[in-house]
Amino acid sequence: MYADRINALPAYLFATIDEAKSKMVEKGVDVIDLGVGDPDKPTPSHIVESMCEAVKDPQNHKYPSYSGLIEFRKAAAKWLKDTRNINVDPATETLTMIGSKEGVAHIPLAFINPGDVALVPDPAYPVYKIGTQFAGGKPHIMPLLEENGFLPDLDSIPQDIIAKSKLMFLNYPNNPTSATATVDFFKEVVDFAEDNNIVIVHDNAYSDIVFDGYKSPSFLEIDGAMDVGIELYSLSKTYNMTGWRLAFAAGNSEIINGLGKVKSNIDSGAFDAIQKAGITALASSQQCVEDMNKTYTSRRDTLLKGLKEMGLEVKPPKATFYVWAPVPEKYKSIEFSKLLLEEAGIVATPGVGFGEYGEGYIRFALTRSVDRISEAVERMGKLEI
Ligand SMILES: Cc1ncc(COP(=O)(O)O)c(C=O)c1O
Repeated sequence: MYADRINALPAYLFATIDEAKSKMVEKGVDVIDLGVGDPDKPTPSHIVESMCEAVKDPQNHKYPSYSGLIEFRKAAAKWLKDTRNINVDPATETLTMIGSKEGVAHIPLAFINPGDVALVPDPAYPVYKIGTQFAGGKPHIMPLLEENGFLPDLDSIPQDIIAKSKLMFLNYPNNPTSATATVDFFKEVVDFAEDNNIVIVHDNAYSDIVFDGYKSPSFLEIDGAMDVGIELYSLSKTYNMTGWRLAFAAGNSEIINGLGKVKSNIDSGAFDAIQKAGITALASSQQCVEDMNKTYTSRRDTLLKGLKEMGLEVKPPKATFYVWAPVPEKYKSIEFSKLLLEEAGIVATPGVGFGEYGEGYIRFALTRSVDRISEAVERMGKLEI
């Protein structure tokens, strides 16, 4: 019945985990869900209020423009300038997206012909690989290994693969490993892209979830990056707005234009009222982001302390709200997550769900309160592992 591209989709591990979780809840277990990468706190009230006003204005009820409200894109450009000293022309070098997932899924349609290759990290957000396959392309896996700081080794990509590659996806701060990129690594990527004519898509969905005074470098800060790539910024995690579906792309105008051509033939843009609320998010004080990061820091420290007591030592992540922990040696990641759920009522995501190179790890999301994380740690401490 289904097209080959649907039949070729891998089994959706996350649906299986959800099912196992529901069974535990039905049994009356008080499940602590550290699986979901969805902030538990509400969107800050000044953003919600701005949306309430915008939604009342009939001007915002019409079809939005394909490339997004110019006022939103100007706010995005100003935010890039103010927070990162990045200069982009809002009219030609930015584009509103209905969440960054939308941009990730659509961009291969603009640059990949059947048989072309996209370079995709593993472990990773699954949409890089699936978006490539939906466009008829072939994903080439770039393993993210702990010994390389979870950065891909560009020198190990075979020449014949490079020759067929049109696109490379990157994501730092990284989901699921929480690794961060160095400026030197991004410089290497710019050179690689220039030499091999490859479009870089840097997914910066966790751009501002940072701790301990760390500031995560942006790809567009690098000399030459504007010639070879775009960067995707999402309001989802930065402002607890996952449900609103709002993000923007910034960078090279031809690449932006390519993505825009796909979008204008598939969707009709983001609701103007949401973009107006997005302006409020980007243009107001960023104190709410700092406050949230303090909250994540104490959650992180609570979890790491507990893991250490269990013999699972993890270096404190500098960014993202994930902790990527090695599983005890005798377990596969799925077995360990099953044990956590069945014996301790804790949901965590097995690393293999993000690709074969995620095996050996488990991802905890810091999207529950310190009290709940403390409770999880206490329960884990009682496990015999
Ligand atoms: C790495 C990464 N990219 C993109 C997304 C999608 O975010 P958005 O809500 O902007 O579509 C996520 C969501 O979890 C993510 O982890």
